[in-house]
Amino acid sequence: MATFAEALNEQIGYEFRASQQYIAIATYYDAQTLPQLAAHFYRQAVEERNHAMMMVQYLLDADQEVVVPGVDAPQTQFKDAVAPVSLALEQEKRVTTQIVELVKLAREEGELVGEQFLHWFLQEQREEVASMTELLAVVERGKDNLLHVEEYLGRAASDGASPLEAGAPPVAGGAL
Ligand SMILES: [Fe+2]
Ligand SMILES: [Fe+2]
Repeated sequence: MATFAEALNEQIGYEFRASQQYIAIATYYDAQTLPQLAAHFYRQAVEERNHAMMMVQYLLDADQEVVVPGVDAPQTQFKDAVAPVSLALEQEKRVTTQIVELVKLAREEGELVGEQFLHWFLQEQREEVASMTELLAVVERGKDNLLHVEEYLGRAASDGASPLEAGAPPVAGGAL
């Protein structure tokens, strides 16, 4: 069985995988001239990249080896404008399960510092699953006129930064 540090290294790959998938989704929407949907997913891609780099920083701080795993190619073709958001929601749910498993492993190993580090990610996952669920509902309702979705995202974008960002773990090389 993997140690906590090995499992966290694996998670770095999953976060980069999520980042790549969000870039693929963003470019799909960008190509269809849906700039708000594109911007939303470009932003999500950067956040996932920052998550990966928070884990890198944790491993550096813990004096553990840092592996930067390669990632599988993301899905780039979608049957309609709803499919990317469904995929994104599935991805966020999968990552939530992965983080929960990491917390359990940290607890088993008595890695309480590591467990504490992961608490922010649990909150972040709760927020991301909730906001992606909301976006899926909006896209399903607006699929016949995606300008409604664009308008909704335009309003949501001016709501300001998430309160979670204040307590976020440090990012190796600095947050983007
Ligand atoms: Fe993430
Ligand atoms: Fe995420």
